[in-house]
Amino acid sequence: MAFGKKMSLSRVENPCFLLFLIIFQAIFILILYRGSNSTVYQTSFPLPRPLDYSKTEDVYTNLSLFTPAPDKANMRYCSESPILVGPLAVTFDTLPSEETIISKNPYVQSGGHYSPPHCEARYKTAVIVPHKNHEKHLQHFLYYLHPFLQRQQINYCIYLIHQAGSGPFNRAKLLNVGVREAMKDDDWDCLLLHDVDLIPENDYNVYACDDYFPKQLSTAIDKLYYSFPYWSFFGGVIALTPEHYMKINGFPNTFWDKDGEDDDIAERIAIAGMGIDRVPLYVGHYKMIDYGQAAERVQNLKRPAELNTKKTWRDDGMNSLEYKLLGKKKYRLYVNITVDIGAAPVLPPEGKSKGNKA
Ligand SMILES: *[C@@H]1O[C@H](CO)[C@@H](O)[C@H](O)[C@H]1NC(C)=O
Ligand SMILES: *[C@@H]1O[C@H](CO)[C@@H](O)[C@H](O)[C@H]1NC(C)=O
Repeated sequence: MAFGKKMSLSRVENPCFLLFLIIFQAIFILILYRGSNSTVYQTSFPLPRPLDYSKTEDVYTNLSLFTPAPDKANMRYCSESPILVGPLAVTFDTLPSEETIISKNPYVQSGGHYSPPHCEARYKTAVIVPHKNHEKHLQHFLYYLHPFLQRQQINYCIYLIHQAGSGPFNRAKLLNVGVREAMKDDDWDCLLLHDVDLIPENDYNVYACDDYFPKQLSTAIDKLYYSFPYWSFFGGVIALTPEHYMKINGFPNTFWDKDGEDDDIAERIAIAGMGIDRVPLYVGHYKMIDYGQAAERVQNLKRPAELNTKKTWRDDGMNSLEYKLLGKKKYRLYVNITVDIGAAPVLPPEGKSKGNKA
């Protein structure tokens, strides 16, 4: 008896056991909190399951039903979008001209900005697209993205971050530039970071952020047979709030022309104690535009990179971002931000220098 009493006493006094209790409670509270939070976005659409991708609708279907409210000053908040259809038809057979895209999107204003004409948007999203010599991709992208976002009644703007010069592509640094420049313009509540060669195929895939965790929207890409490549995969199309973004010091600036920056970003999120929300595979369908680059892209998407993020993230990111803004122009369908982000540092080739010494 005496022994038992001593045991239970020491267990309560044991700091490990107390810590365990606290963590347990915290997890419980988190689950409750998340449950109530996620209703805002996820349950607003009762999803038919499984979605039938053999029956698709045109991305412009019924968009003309959104006409200006008679009384602009007293607009109500948007309710659930009445025109969502789920699976969308996406093809790249014909290249749409800029005039076609403009005429099909009459409510898009200069700078590729849109807010619903019939209701007050609930979501305010900056779509940020890193870009370097992909003019054909861009036309397809704009043709699909504009109506896609309008179907979801989002207040949005499309920012194209165009890398000047002939240096190697640096996707993550361009995204850092995009975030900084977009936040100068407006108080966006969601940063939607989007590869230009991925087109969404389902309008239930909402381009808004989850408050709680960063979100990955491109979970099922056609070139990867609509399956998820590896558990930590975080490439393609992702959504972070400005708070999430700053919490991880943004993205790395040092990934020149190599894959792995998306794995570094996923690692930053884990280090910051956040998780990643992933859109279910049957909603996160994307088609990849293929002009010959896709095979290499797909190889890069298939496996995680080797990283050193724990050591680098504090000093490599938004706090070390340097660039020269060459232009920030409002075009009709997007804001064109042209930027000189410098060149990759020239490293001494390790193998050779050793050889020379010997
Ligand atoms: C378009 O809207 C009309 C009128 O609301 C509706 O009857 C029709 O089903 C909609 N089309 C699609 C494909 O949802
Ligand atoms: C963006 O603007 C720069 C000039 O400022 C131009 O060279 C570039 O082609 C433009 N890019 C796109 C995709 O519009």
